Amino acid sequence: MNTRKIILSEKEMPTKWYNITADMPNPPQPVLHPGTKQPVGPQDLAPLFPMALIEQEVSTQKFIDIPEEILNHLTLWRPSPVFRAYNLEKALGTKSHIYYKYEGGSPAGSHKPNTAIAQAYYNKKEGVKRLSTETGAGQWGSSLALAGTLFGLEVKVYMVKVSYEQKPYRRALMETWGASVVASPSKDTNAGRKILEADPNSNGSLGIAISEAVEDAVGREDTKYALGSVLNHVLLHQTIIGEEALKQMAIAGEYPDVVVASHGGGSNFAGLAFPFLREKIHGKKVRVVAVEPAACPTLTRGQYTYDFGDTVGLTPLVKMYTLGHDFMPAGIHAGGLRYHGASALVSQLVHEGLIEATAVKQNDVFASAITFARSEGILPAPESSHAIHQAVLEAKQADEEGKSRVILFNLSGHGHFDLTAFTQYLAGQMKDSSISDADLKKGLATIPVV
Ligand SMILES: Cc1ncc(COP(=O)(O)O)c(C=O)c1O
Repeated sequence: MNTRKIILSEKEMPTKWYNITADMPNPPQPVLHPGTKQPVGPQDLAPLFPMALIEQEVSTQKFIDIPEEILNHLTLWRPSPVFRAYNLEKALGTKSHIYYKYEGGSPAGSHKPNTAIAQAYYNKKEGVKRLSTETGAGQWGSSLALAGTLFGLEVKVYMVKVSYEQKPYRRALMETWGASVVASPSKDTNAGRKILEADPNSNGSLGIAISEAVEDAVGREDTKYALGSVLNHVLLHQTIIGEEALKQMAIAGEYPDVVVASHGGGSNFAGLAFPFLREKIHGKKVRVVAVEPAACPTLTRGQYTYDFGDTVGLTPLVKMYTLGHDFMPAGIHAGGLRYHGASALVSQLVHEGLIEATAVKQNDVFASAITFARSEGILPAPESSHAIHQAVLEAKQADEEGKSRVILFNLSGHGHFDLTAFTQYLAGQMKDSSISDADLKKGLATIPVV
């Protein structure tokens, strides 16, 4: 019998996070204060984050110990399995070997609790009582709600309106774990009211929801802000995915030719890819590919420059690929990939040629998601389906070249709350939206001059 699932025991779970800044060919670019345009110091970030997370944000230490209490919570679902996708390979008729790391077994259904648990832990330790956050697809909001309940913290979630309407059960899940949830733009903040005045029917975006959550945290003594992606410490917490996968691929006796993950803000991609990039930087031959939606093509059509992380301009300026902080992505179903910017670390590594990026269309993504669900059985999240689609393309391309590739991708979450999207796709009603050069120009025009 062939081994389908490569499983690590709890004792084999990695106990350190990997910090890629220790290995990057060039040091990370500084984050700038939005007012002075000078590099920010720890005190500038203190209203938003606990000091332990600020220290991780700027740390250059290669490996950082994961506290025991965090490890204990992570064992609720970790280590996560790596599957060999025999059925998908058969359905495609490919000679390639396809593996996927499955993060959908967490209580919230995705990779996001890996950092939610860590962030809640450090906030609790520093006496914080309440966390504010944004959520796109609802995966991150659910994860922070879960972490909030495990650590006894209050959680307020600003949920992008289009997702709030598409996914009422994600909201119910967050409320079940004790969080309070509002549709963003909301009337609860100045940022939300300003957007609603300009456009009462605004679909919302991650950039707007971030503005609201940041304003909420800055305005209250008892509250800090938690971000589900983009920041260095978030990417750091996700590297447990890739550290596990390295061990699991060694057990499988294969090394990936290509590592693939979808890209929203960068944490799911970095989580799987950064430990493999460490090996690439030190001479191993492996390609790493970030996959984004054609409707929000940050890495493939954005500009590499300083921009705000949010729409209103409350956050520090980050050097990243950006479509402009005012860019309003179409209401595609992969809500977690509708972000105008990207993580600074991923952006720099794309810019320096270590990471490849590609953009794919929603209908093609769902076609591959259906092939996957009908072969492997798991219903994938729309975000994760971007990685499935790229893995399928990689396998097909290898077959056309008469080669066999070892492909590893991150199945970052399940799609049990995304059935509206599948219903629409199956009814032939899903639309592909692409960005015209004029739309792109309009977004890029909002980028501040630094
Ligand atoms: C299931 C799933 N996969 C991938 C992503 C993208 O994650 P990241 O922002 O970390 O790139 C998200 C974001 O919400 C998600 O929910």
